[in-house]
Amino acid sequence: MKSFELRQKYLKFFEKKGHKVIPSASLVPKEDVELVGTQRVLFTTAGMHPLVPYLLGAPHPEGKRLVNVQKCLRTDDIDQVGDSVHNTFFEMLGNWSLGDYWKKEAISWSYDFLINILKLDAKRLYVSVFAGDSDAPFDQESFDIWEKLGLPEGHIFKYGKKDNWWGPVGQTGPCGPDTEMFYDVEGGSLNGQEPARNPQRFVEIWNDVFMEYEKRVKGQVSSIKNPDEFEYVPLKQKNVDTGMGLERMLAVLQNAPSIFETDVFAPLMKQIEDLSNAYNDKSARIIADHLRAAVFLISDGVTPSNVERGYILRRLVRRLIRHASLLKIDQDFLSDTVKTIVKTYGSFYPKLQEFQASIVDELKKEETKFKKALAQGIREFEKIGGNISGRDAFNLYQNYGFPIELTVEMALEEKKQVDVPGFEKEFKSHQELSRKAGEKTKGGLATQSDRAAKLHTATHLMHQAPRDILGHHVHQTGSHITDERLRFDFTHGAKMLDEQIKKVEKIVNQKIQDNLPVGKITMPKAAADELGAIGLFDDKYGDLVNIYFIGAAGPKNAYSKEFCGGPHAASTGTLGEFKIIKEESAGSGIRRIYATIEP
Ligand code: ALA
Repeated sequence: MKSFELRQKYLKFFEKKGHKVIPSASLVPKEDVELVGTQRVLFTTAGMHPLVPYLLGAPHPEGKRLVNVQKCLRTDDIDQVGDSVHNTFFEMLGNWSLGDYWKKEAISWSYDFLINILKLDAKRLYVSVFAGDSDAPFDQESFDIWEKLGLPEGHIFKYGKKDNWWGPVGQTGPCGPDTEMFYDVEGGSLNGQEPARNPQRFVEIWNDVFMEYEKRVKGQVSSIKNPDEFEYVPLKQKNVDTGMGLERMLAVLQNAPSIFETDVFAPLMKQIEDLSNAYNDKSARIIADHLRAAVFLISDGVTPSNVERGYILRRLVRRLIRHASLLKIDQDFLSDTVKTIVKTYGSFYPKLQEFQASIVDELKKEETKFKKALAQGIREFEKIGGNISGRDAFNLYQNYGFPIELTVEMALEEKKQVDVPGFEKEFKSHQELSRKAGEKTKGGLATQSDRAAKLHTATHLMHQAPRDILGHHVHQTGSHITDERLRFDFTHGAKMLDEQIKKVEKIVNQKIQDNLPVGKITMPKAAADELGAIGLFDDKYGDLVNIYFIGAAGPKNAYSKEFCGGPHAASTGTLGEFKIIKEESAGSGIRRIYATIEP
């Protein structure tokens, strides 16, 4: 069975059981789920992630039974990519009950789908259930349901929290015991092997989570200092959250030795292998995995940078470029391989087709930036001789753009060690220096140029206004101010319509006319998050952050609240008339606005 058919069969099966098909959310979490509790989660890591508010009790517009195919990205297993079952980007098939059906339906449907629709061999199915601990009891109910379905006792394993508990996504949020399904790809007697301990033989294919708890900070304190301060409290509603890894299931169904031989990877692998003449090679698999992840990330508006999401993307791209060079792939390979990925996925994810050209552009830009540095950096790396000091690693980062993870990987290959804490120390002190330098310039700016401060304040209004009219997916991705104009980049999937541009101008000018005071407050990051402050924020700057707020009603009810170093105008009334000069694309899913203020 091919990927297209598996997706369709899964969605159809649950549609027939009263589920509504919902579209895949972006890999970039929307604002309402980006902060889970007080932790910022950079990417969508599971199908349930975009559903957190509904798992906590908000009514979902599509009802209580949902099903979808969700794009996910996880970097925790990045070092395992290249084996037979691990990916960074993957698709998750999932069905949900939001306070509706419970264990009996969920487990029986899972079984029915696996055995009667996918025609797996029931004798090769193994499952595990939660063994119980001081937070929650043994899951007798699931155990009994599996037995009733005909699983022999020797096929039902019991494990503790480490194996049979799922969630929350961040530090806090909905979670619960789960029951996992494994398929024995070898068959035969167990010989003392166990599903959760022999992942290559027992492929984990599906996970039914019974989300009946919320892990939260005891007494609802908002900032967490001590991990013992957590408690598990029953959720208002009992939810079912399931997840089936599409690639793994395909490997089982296609009798493929690894996910890289399934139909979602085969054409891409063949292309990389033809380019390199290397077969069954770990580097080829890393290139395929990382390239696919990069393509999806860029199509969701992420661009390579040195912070947060952009940094993860940069790491993926730079690592794949290095592995391409290890395989001696010298020619331009990005356009053709991206084309293959778009061909494989374009009919299910049409955005890839729409953005194909800009995806290739973005990747090539990063390749150009890194390729020359890579060769020089490798020479520099070779010169080091023994182990790599923190300073060496920092030089490779600073001068040749080597992400620390890349240096560590290269060192491992030569059985060398890297002083990673030493690197971090260098990194921090360097950052501190640039921050101080930055503050100096910014401080200087206030006296040198009132106009820049005013444009800066206008930029904050310019950040909030499109959120008012386009939605909360609008996030700043960059900003640049000269004495003449402001430039503001933000996430938005489409060209802004003329009337939308006019509306933004109108809102900003209204706020200017209202002559709102601009205030500043310093507070812990967690509290600022809770307040709903927006903006680009670099976590490394320590616990206390500055929030600039615009509005008379205090920080909480201010019109705009944003992480920022300033300086700003004292009130909006002095800004003058705000005008948008130009709106254009700045990459896929990113728009750029140039605007000015006139006295
Ligand atoms: N959220 C569950 C998982 O990711 C289904 O395994």
